[in-house]
Amino acid sequence: MKILFVASEVYPLVKTGGLADVVGALPVALSATNDVKVLLPAYEGLMGMLSDCRAGPILGNPFGYGEMRLVFGRLEGGSIEFWLLDCPNLFHRQGGPYLNEDGHDHADNHRRFAALSWAGAVVTQYGSLMNWRPDIVHAHDWQTGLLPAYLRAWSQRHPPVVYTIHNMQFTGAYTHDQYLETGLPESLFNMYGLEYYGRYSMLKAGIQYSDAVTTVSPTYAKEIQTPAYGCGLDALMRDQKHKISGILNGVDYQVWNPATDELIDHHYCLRDMDGKALNKQALQKKLGLRIEPRKPLLGLISRLSEQKGLDLVLQVLPDYLEQGAQLILLGSGEKSLESAFRALSGRFPDQVSANFGYNEPLAHQIQSASDFLLVPSRFEPCGLTQLYALKYGTLPIVRRTGGLADSVWEDISGRPQTGFVFNDATVHELWHALQRAMGAYENERVFRQLREQAMQQDFSWESSAAQYTSLYKRLIT
Ligand code: ADP
Ligand code: GLC
Repeated sequence: MKILFVASEVYPLVKTGGLADVVGALPVALSATNDVKVLLPAYEGLMGMLSDCRAGPILGNPFGYGEMRLVFGRLEGGSIEFWLLDCPNLFHRQGGPYLNEDGHDHADNHRRFAALSWAGAVVTQYGSLMNWRPDIVHAHDWQTGLLPAYLRAWSQRHPPVVYTIHNMQFTGAYTHDQYLETGLPESLFNMYGLEYYGRYSMLKAGIQYSDAVTTVSPTYAKEIQTPAYGCGLDALMRDQKHKISGILNGVDYQVWNPATDELIDHHYCLRDMDGKALNKQALQKKLGLRIEPRKPLLGLISRLSEQKGLDLVLQVLPDYLEQGAQLILLGSGEKSLESAFRALSGRFPDQVSANFGYNEPLAHQIQSASDFLLVPSRFEPCGLTQLYALKYGTLPIVRRTGGLADSVWEDISGRPQTGFVFNDATVHELWHALQRAMGAYENERVFRQLREQAMQQDFSWESSAAQYTSLYKRLIT
């Protein structure tokens, strides 16, 4: 099958969260038996990261922001061909893919990602221009939601579109005036189309006009059909239930494996765990924490946002810090959470290390050094850090929601315990989960056994890729 992925981030080219990890790894897993291309914006500097770049076709200037063209290239030694959508007026920016340097959305995100969606739709129609016509289009998150809307508006024959929701919270909602810039017809702007509480939502468009909707865990697929998790779209999700499924994300064990990880100081594996203890000591030293081989070290690697339940951590943790536990946080996002963690580290200077900004090596080092990883999310479509933690023998402490519920076990009959799981997003429940975790840490034999059970879990991409492949096949035939 020829599969076109369309997304706004791809590891290692551009990453703000788990979406990039997924779009970096799933095409590689699928490419064992398929021909996969990945279309993404040519953000500033991206072309320089690819080898072997060659100019593709010019797509035109439909929005009046400058000519758009495709550029093809690969990562050195990589198996996947990337198709970069080049349009400097839209994609050459200071800041990140969505936010400017002050942390605000780029003012023209509605245009930038309409353009990406439009380009994906165009590729399905003019495959002869690049000698390649997809059998399936797989679009991701709100940034590509208008892709199937363009196809609907043009009402031409086109390959089936699979639309994956990585996070319902980002609805990509804009005003009617902004809609007029997309070139889409007024006939779609109604409640049975992409209208969303008086505005339009790119996410809703993706749900309405695609042939199948997937989300990144079976539990989240059910949750988003309820008012508590549906972000105002739960009625639509219930209505479209027949085309929704949940496929759990996998892990790229080439990137996340303590036996080979080039970003950590000491390698280790199930049979030889010495490296993990050395990593703990090395990171405590590097970050100015007290060197304490026998005190529990908690890791936390997260966007700092309300989704992630970090306010609970701030309330619960002091009790455990007073008993000698340590915390290493790596995060970026809301300034108020940043200052709260900074204050916590001021209060416990040799027990709490608060690190802000985006730091890929440090993320790996925290996984490799910590005894536990905290993921107390209010909602979590899949979550990847807990999957990485399992492989690194770092026991996840998670809330039973979304992909966390589908990947970490405690007290589930027939499943070996691999972490600590609490039900409600309350201080009380998190406190008790930590209590159980600390209890296990005290008992060397129990702790060793849990660690082994965690490290034996296999969340490699093959099984998820097989589920996507059978979905694609069902849609084609
Ligand atoms: P989400 O996509 O909601 O942010 P995930 O758990 O799916 O959550 O994925 C988060 C990804 O981003 C993981 O690869 C994690 O290691 C990484 N990550 C999160 N925050 C940072 C950070 N500040 N620096 C480096 N990597 C980070
Ligand atoms: C989103 C979700 C996260 C998921 C990731 C990749 O950012 O918040 O739970 O793991 O996408 O699918």
